[in-house]
Amino acid sequence: MGVVRHLRQVDADDAGIDLAFRADVHAGLSQPQKAVPARWFYDATGSALFEDITALPEYYPTRSETDLLKRHAAAMAAAIGPGRAVVELGSGSSTKTPLLLEAIAPAAYVPVDISGDFLRDSARALAARFPGLAVYPVEADFTHQVELPREIGPLPKLGFFPGSTIGNMVARTAIDLLRSWRGSLGDGSLLLIGIDRIKDIGVLTSAYDDPAGVTAAFNLNLLERINRELDGTIPVENFAHRAVWNDVHARIEMHLVAACDMEFRVDGRAYHMAKGETIHSENSHKYGLRDANLLLRAGGWTPVATWDDADPAFALILAQATEFRSAP
Ligand code: AVI
Repeated sequence: MGVVRHLRQVDADDAGIDLAFRADVHAGLSQPQKAVPARWFYDATGSALFEDITALPEYYPTRSETDLLKRHAAAMAAAIGPGRAVVELGSGSSTKTPLLLEAIAPAAYVPVDISGDFLRDSARALAARFPGLAVYPVEADFTHQVELPREIGPLPKLGFFPGSTIGNMVARTAIDLLRSWRGSLGDGSLLLIGIDRIKDIGVLTSAYDDPAGVTAAFNLNLLERINRELDGTIPVENFAHRAVWNDVHARIEMHLVAACDMEFRVDGRAYHMAKGETIHSENSHKYGLRDANLLLRAGGWTPVATWDDADPAFALILAQATEFRSAP
């Protein structure tokens, strides 16, 4: 197995506080609509809670996508072909990856993830499971330009971005990201991406507000994390989880709702919230068939095959790097 590359160092102050986290929290809590970026959900507790979410009966995306990979493995293998370097963007625990690797016989596997520990463990497990496969883990933030290992330079690439994580970005960011991968993966590359479809609002809201309260705990952990890591005094017990459908943006929004007026401090700075005010903590955009195709095309990828699960609707789309043409 190749060596993990440290392409991102966490910038911390003398007390070990993550400066990017602190900057995002202060900037977000100072806006008229308070907001904290969803990427800060994933400390150790948040990552474990997210794994629990994926096993909930109401949270269909993980199950639907896994079923699609199992059911259509042969068709995917035929469309993708053998001998590619699979670059998994935000690989996390890589639970769906073996299904893909088994189906397509790749030449190399490059998991890219910001969390080095997670990455090392899952890359090691995959290398053991696929002994002939070259594995080159890259520790990097996949939302920025990713420098790929020299060893896979000559191989045709397949970007793999499962989980409908693209939905956690607003369209503009999603398109920037798709364009940046188009650049990193290069001509002749393919992208296999998980897209959650627009569907019945009741199905969507219960996927993000489950009766067991796991998603609520996941959302509230963001406040706990602020208290733990940024010396916060947020009265977490005075907040409630809310998941709502925003039809204009075609997305589920998660918020943390203040149950009463309150004052608190974060890292020495004072904040006030009025009863009913919210901290917007996540967007999860959903895409109709043509919406998803437009998003991909705008990002420099032409859809070539779609495997759709009907109920609840979820898709895996295969797209190829688009040749730039300035005129029809
Ligand atoms: C990681 N991401 C695709 C999940 C989603 O469905 O938007 C995060 C999540 N938030 C609440 N439940 C799951």
